[in-house]
Amino acid sequence: MRTRIKELIANGTKGSDYVVSGWVRSLRLSKEIAFIVINDGSDVDGIQVVAESDLANFEQIGRIGTGSALTVEGRLLESPGAGQKWEIHSISITIIGMADGNYPLQKKRHSFEYLRSIAHLRPRTNTFGAIFRLRSKLAQAVHRFFSEQNFLYVQTPIITASDCEGAGELFRVTTLDASNPPLLGCRTDFNQDFFGQKSGLTVSGQLEGELFALAFGDIYTFGPTFRAENSNTARHASEFWMIEPEMAFSDLADDADLAEKFVRYLCRFALEECTDDMAFFDRHIESGLLERIRRVAEADFVRMEYGEAIELLKKSGTTFTYPVDWGVDLQTEHERYITEQIVGGPAFILNYPKNIKAFYMRLNDDDRTVAAMDLLVPKVGEIIGGSQREERLDRLELRMAELGIAQEPLWWYLDSRRWGSCPHAGFGLGFERMLMYLSGMDNIRDVIPFPRTPRHCEF
Ligand code: 4AD
Ligand code: MG
Repeated sequence: MRTRIKELIANGTKGSDYVVSGWVRSLRLSKEIAFIVINDGSDVDGIQVVAESDLANFEQIGRIGTGSALTVEGRLLESPGAGQKWEIHSISITIIGMADGNYPLQKKRHSFEYLRSIAHLRPRTNTFGAIFRLRSKLAQAVHRFFSEQNFLYVQTPIITASDCEGAGELFRVTTLDASNPPLLGCRTDFNQDFFGQKSGLTVSGQLEGELFALAFGDIYTFGPTFRAENSNTARHASEFWMIEPEMAFSDLADDADLAEKFVRYLCRFALEECTDDMAFFDRHIESGLLERIRRVAEADFVRMEYGEAIELLKKSGTTFTYPVDWGVDLQTEHERYITEQIVGGPAFILNYPKNIKAFYMRLNDDDRTVAAMDLLVPKVGEIIGGSQREERLDRLELRMAELGIAQEPLWWYLDSRRWGSCPHAGFGLGFERMLMYLSGMDNIRDVIPFPRTPRHCEF
């Protein structure tokens, strides 16, 4: 039975024998002795294996390369070397899989751009090891949080016929022959498609989530979402994961309370349960990261009206690429200015103009804003988007008519406002944006195992 290196370093007994398996990170060889660092992905640190020339296959060991897979049986002893407590003195080394000199991860440091081009191998580097361990733990923390809050976990569909955000960013799902589709007049006849209607990959599980909230009270979804949005930025991916809670009998203030509690929980969780990987990010990715996350875990988030944010931006004396005035949508430059320069931490922006937000948001009494909220954080900008939903059937129908959204395909959504409708609210947290925030990584492509962006769908 092999012992994971993390376990060995934490709980190993001096002088005892262990079996470890992993991939070679570095090799130092001489005629009499070999020092081999292996890493098995359980921890940032690997362990040094010492092999002496009395091993039967010592000569063969001299020919293995970085990246080879080994199983080592040996004794755990204190290491005289600097920077490591333990090393393993081998009794036997089995070469499981050789790697030759063409193995791409020979150097210690590679650019993130280069590593993206070898996404099949980058999990074997220190940085991506730390990222994907954090990602795995954080996903479990999401479920733990909502389970502690007694929310129902609902799996909303991935294939859908409705474009929740109304931005026309649905990837089409079809079994029709693209080069010879059935026609009705001069248009494709989707009646003959697999689902008998036009369908695509979901941009959000919210609408279905609302239906469950109106039966179970408090629910959440956590799944992949897809957007055929042709924006090549460091914060957008065509496939990303989103956590969407929805609460019945709740308003915008309750929504912001939950969002704040949730984000602070995830910050605390990362600090407490992913200590080594977070320390790695602090040392190698962003100095001061731990302090930044600690402050967020402890402080109250600022809440600011959209109108106030616009006034502050106008008064700032800064020239923005996109001019600011009441009614404009906030661009990344504005969002970052608010959270980095004005607030110096996370900030909720509340009650946006209705014209820049989705149809389902609740109209405020002023008739020109909706009960929307975005949570902005330094570096990343928008990390959460949410709202109180329009629960009044007449208002909802009016808004859909204004926006030219057909009622017939959303008959089931409208039905939810017909029988036992109630105030309810929810939000979506972009899982990758949260990971960027916690790790200090600048590009969304570097916190998702196999990123999908325009023109990139390899691996
Ligand atoms: O603001 P968005 O579009 O809101 C919704 O989808 C709502 N239906 C959520 C809800 O109320 N249940 O997206 C929510 C969050 C954003 O704040 C952002 O963190 C993330 O999802 N996000 C993306 N992340 C990566 N790549 C993209 N292309 C993203 N688009 C949104
Ligand atoms: Mg948004």
